[in-house]
Amino acid sequence: MTDYAFGKQPPEGGRICVVGAGFMGCVIATLYVHHGYDVVICDSNPAMLDSYSQRARPIAAGLVESDAQVEALLQRVVRQASLPEAVDGAFMVHEAIQESLEIKQALFEELDRLCPDSVVLATNTSSLPISDIAKRLSHKERVIGIHYVTPGHIVPVVELIHSPTTPPELIAWARAMVKSIDHVGVACLERPGFLVNKIQFAMLTEIYRLMDEGLATREDIDDAVRLSLGPRLALWGPLLTEDLIVSKKTALAVTDSIYQQTGDETYKGRKVLRDLVAQDHLGAINGAGWYRFKDTPEEVVAKRDRQLRALLDWLQEADPVGELNVR
Ligand SMILES: NC(=O)c1ccc[n+]([C@@H]2O[C@H](COP(=O)([O-])OP(=O)(O)OC[C@H]3O[C@@H](n4cnc5c(N)ncnc54)[C@H](O)[C@@H]3O)[C@@H](O)[C@H]2O)c1
Repeated sequence: MTDYAFGKQPPEGGRICVVGAGFMGCVIATLYVHHGYDVVICDSNPAMLDSYSQRARPIAAGLVESDAQVEALLQRVVRQASLPEAVDGAFMVHEAIQESLEIKQALFEELDRLCPDSVVLATNTSSLPISDIAKRLSHKERVIGIHYVTPGHIVPVVELIHSPTTPPELIAWARAMVKSIDHVGVACLERPGFLVNKIQFAMLTEIYRLMDEGLATREDIDDAVRLSLGPRLALWGPLLTEDLIVSKKTALAVTDSIYQQTGDETYKGRKVLRDLVAQDHLGAINGAGWYRFKDTPEEVVAKRDRQLRALLDWLQEADPVGELNVR
């Protein structure tokens, strides 16, 4: 492929082929058609195409208001059993078949033969390296992970998984692609766990350890996260939260203290954190941490507390946990 034939922007209303009409294929096809793309869905199992509308209906119902709009969305997705016909005219093929390297490799080889060089080949893989999926392709550089986080029609973030040799132009293109469907792309290298699972399992493995060691009950763990970390992370993410709530000197002292008490290298203060302390970038408290702050520390604290109070009041009023509570 020369000059990045896929162009700078995805073509508005252009054709996308989704391969795999299972759980994720239904979500992805519905999202794309909802945002005006011309969608063809392909599956090697005809029964999956037959039952597509039934399985995609609750997803469409989560995106539009009326029954008529739901039916219109479902009808606009063309079902096609033949792969060569399904990919014809598509500017992107989004693969959502089962998580097997061998099966994905075989499909991508076929897609590489069938599709002109300008066609982007995207995979929804949850765990496989892009380089491995693209290993035997003539045009590896057009393969990228566009990985939806369940429930993908509601969760805004989409991971854009790339290999060390993926052209930056393709990552930018994929960002524009997911932006066109009101999602937010976060780019990450093809490392195990990518970004979301890597962070999620860092927390979960600690929680499993606490439980194994009998240090806390499941109820107290859920409350601790739901009523402290959860609302703060939802508002600001982990790094901005740190800037807003603690000096970097204290953060470093705490992580080092856990390291000294446990001998567990995971907690040893990292270079990125030590560098900030060395530069006196302590957080909102002195105007710069991971981020820079225009407002005074007092203004930042007042705004922080207003936002957190509003979210906690909303949670209290909406009481979504009360509904789900299994205790
Ligand atoms: N299930 C999730 O929550 C989730 C979330 C994010 C990502 N993913 C990833 O998305 C992908 C799909 O997962 P899923 O849960 O939707 O799988 P699924 O088993 O529900 O569906 C896979 C579909 O692919 C079809 N298929 C298999 N080989 C095919 C081929 N060569 N050509 C055409 N169709 C073929 C199957 O008939 C089936 O309908 C996987 O890579 C998975 O890891 C899943």
